[in-house]
Amino acid sequence: MKNKFYITTPIYYPSGDAHIGHAYCTTLCDILARYKRLRGFETYFLTGTDEHGQKIKEHASKANKTPQEYVDEIVSKFKKLWELMEISNDDFIRTTEPRHIKVVQEMFSKMYKKEDIYLGSYKGWYCTECEAFWTDIQAGPNHLCPDCNRPVHEETEESYFFKCSKYVNNILKLYNDNPKFCFPESRMHEMVNTFIKPGLQDLSVSRTSNDWGVPILENKKHTAYVWLDALTNYISALGYGSKDDGLYKKFWEDPNTEIIHVIGADISRFHCIYWPMFLMSAGLRLPDRVFVHGLLRIKDEKMSKSKGNVVSPFPLVERYGVDAVRYYLSREVTFGRDGEFTPEQFVERLNVDLANQLGNLLNRTVSMIIKYFDGVVPAFKSNVTKFDKEVEDLISATIKEYEINFDDLKITEAITTAMNLVNRANKYIDETTPWVLSKEGKQEELASVMSHLANCLYVSAILLSPVLVHQSKGILDQLGVPEELRNYKSISKLGVIGNIKVNKGDQLFPRLEVNKEIEYVKSLMQSK
Ligand code: MSP
Repeated sequence: MKNKFYITTPIYYPSGDAHIGHAYCTTLCDILARYKRLRGFETYFLTGTDEHGQKIKEHASKANKTPQEYVDEIVSKFKKLWELMEISNDDFIRTTEPRHIKVVQEMFSKMYKKEDIYLGSYKGWYCTECEAFWTDIQAGPNHLCPDCNRPVHEETEESYFFKCSKYVNNILKLYNDNPKFCFPESRMHEMVNTFIKPGLQDLSVSRTSNDWGVPILENKKHTAYVWLDALTNYISALGYGSKDDGLYKKFWEDPNTEIIHVIGADISRFHCIYWPMFLMSAGLRLPDRVFVHGLLRIKDEKMSKSKGNVVSPFPLVERYGVDAVRYYLSREVTFGRDGEFTPEQFVERLNVDLANQLGNLLNRTVSMIIKYFDGVVPAFKSNVTKFDKEVEDLISATIKEYEINFDDLKITEAITTAMNLVNRANKYIDETTPWVLSKEGKQEELASVMSHLANCLYVSAILLSPVLVHQSKGILDQLGVPEELRNYKSISKLGVIGNIKVNKGDQLFPRLEVNKEIEYVKSLMQSK
């Protein structure tokens, strides 16, 4: 049984400010990391920035800066955003750091010594923006980049090549033996049908035309191809190859660690084909899974800095709070599918789920406990009213389903499961009509309703804690849950909440004025 967890985001290009697409991926990884910690796994969570390459150099020169100055400024904004969004990463790797550069050189040397890398020359269609070479077929008659649709240009240069042909069968075997290696499964089929079956060419892994990169020790004219450089971050950050490689031993080498790379659909080829090949060549362990999430679009277009149709997460977080944005990102679009960011859905999601469902349940429950029981949650008793049993069963079922979903990286489904319990509890208030029970003096039934409600809220708050990093604590504070019960283990016993004093606090989930807020969010969406 694996007892450790290593999760990584892609390392982002600091070629422009972070947008909500970057926040989407990082937040979902953070939620997974927090879930694993909640479950007691020793967890390591890595993010960072991918700072080399021609594209960055060009951006820097346009901004009249050295590449290093240019990236330093943008990287500091990425770091600020992750702090603001309460991202709990354990490290932040930058590909311009010496600890990383050394490892890229070592990886190259290892593969070179194994004769998996040879010197040749390259002619192909190159997209500067995506730092990728394309074949004639891929660039098509109009010579456009299949990823970003920009014009590509022909380039010929001396280059080192990685022998993909040698590893193709190993990749197919990997997929066959581990059907969830590249997940969702449709992505694996895409890899096979789009890239492997048509014939995978050897990969150019060095450049002579770009000096903003990691120099290859075997031949100083060359720098490492930016993707070889970037992918290596996942092990360089752990100290691979250095004297101080404790983290590498613990979180990569140890088979008891589950290793997950989370990436966007645009970069699956690099992670699901080339990265495992490099690792095989270097004789290193492979990750367990590459989870490919969908992309957020705006008005049907992929959101990207270069297209200028981005939404910045900063003003959203400032106005609506970290938890609201985290909740929206994890709940609105099913993790693994593409989705669209719209101001209308953003506002509606916060109003319906957080204000109407969760906020209302909390306010009603705390107010009624104050009104009917002087603010003390009655002790739990099973099966008193005719509606209790169903709620009790649902609490246990919810916890089980939540775990199954989360363990399978189905984050949206896991959160929906927790929110279903909240909805059921709201319905339970309507079914049991506590105000009628009070009028009729049915104290025992009234007490049972209150304690069932408090227990539903308690369990929901713990289950939602990887997402709602502040408000889940706020819910537990208002319920008066003692510190020693604020953990995952405690919720597994039914009805532990009782004889505690609630504290009515501030409104945790204020209702938004729909039209006003839609207008505000619209004003943040810069269009081309
Ligand atoms: N630097 C490379 C990754 C190297 S990883 C070894 C890169 N960087 S990127 O900044 O362009 O994008 C990285 C990731 O950001 C995407 O794979 C995706 O996870 C996330 N997103 C970027 N735009 C996005 C959306 N519009 N929607 C959702 N995620 C987005 O590629």
